[in-house]
Amino acid sequence: MMLVDQPYVPPAMPATGPAEKESAPLGTAAREHVSLLSISGLTAGYGDVQVLWGVDLQVKAGAITCIVGSNGAGKSTLLRTISGMVRVNSGTINFAGRDLTGATPDAMLSAGVAHVPEGRRLFRGLSIRDNLLLGAYMRNDSRAEIEHDLEFIYSMFPILKEREKQDATTLSGGEQQMCAIGRGIMSRPQLLMIDELSLGLAPRAVEKLGEALLEINRAGLTILLVEQDVLTAFDLASQAFVVETGRVSLSGSTAELAEDPRIRQAYMGI
Ligand SMILES: Nc1ncnc2c1ncn2[C@@H]1O[C@H](COP(=O)(O)OP(=O)(O)OP(=O)(O)O)[C@@H](O)[C@H]1O
Ligand SMILES: [Mg+2]
Repeated sequence: MMLVDQPYVPPAMPATGPAEKESAPLGTAAREHVSLLSISGLTAGYGDVQVLWGVDLQVKAGAITCIVGSNGAGKSTLLRTISGMVRVNSGTINFAGRDLTGATPDAMLSAGVAHVPEGRRLFRGLSIRDNLLLGAYMRNDSRAEIEHDLEFIYSMFPILKEREKQDATTLSGGEQQMCAIGRGIMSRPQLLMIDELSLGLAPRAVEKLGEALLEINRAGLTILLVEQDVLTAFDLASQAFVVETGRVSLSGSTAELAEDPRIRQAYMGI
């Protein structure tokens, strides 16, 4: 079943190196072998407080990847560092074949990285429509193209269209998350990063959001998900990274990690 009647049209994947160039044009299966985002030895923090201690992480093009880990492990700091909001102390961030270490938030957004922050952070006093349009502020595209993408969001989440003139912060938690994800997609990203998809939401809302993300991923969007709930994360993602006190302690396919006793005991309560 197609949830959406207008396909998501992600920006073309730039070639990322000689090996990948040979396999172009890239279908979804081929693209999964290419790292869209590659992070190496990343350290970062706030002032004198170091939070990330040498993170290595790769996000395969076309895949859904998740980052799990306990409170305070540094997951949000990692996403903020990728999107240019937290300064890199050392290490590298490579995105779509370009070294973007130290790039500003606007430069990361223009390069194709969208960040849906923890807690949604919608703008009070602005309508749902205007919150969505803010996601497109860096684009130089025509009004018609932006309207097309707005209709795409509305076809994915019809409740947002029904309420489009309403203050976005009056929505329910699940609807606010739809709006925040929609705002991220309005930038036409190559990578959509979502910090805490399910936090504070009812199971039915999480299920609906998950279905929408799977649909848009199948249409070509690469997704990096930070998620407290390991079962939800592993349901959606094919690859996982476990972050503990600012380091990646385990990584692999979610199928493998779901069987790992360390994961089952620490994060699944099994
Ligand atoms: N703005 C900030 N200034 C100083 N320290 C911060 C700031 N934001 C986070 N920290 C600290 O950085 C560490 C990692 O926090 P972070 O929010 O990245 O963790 P997290 O894994 O996202 O946690 P949670 O699961 O609770 O969202 C914590 O010790 C936190 O107190
Ligand atoms: Mg967090």
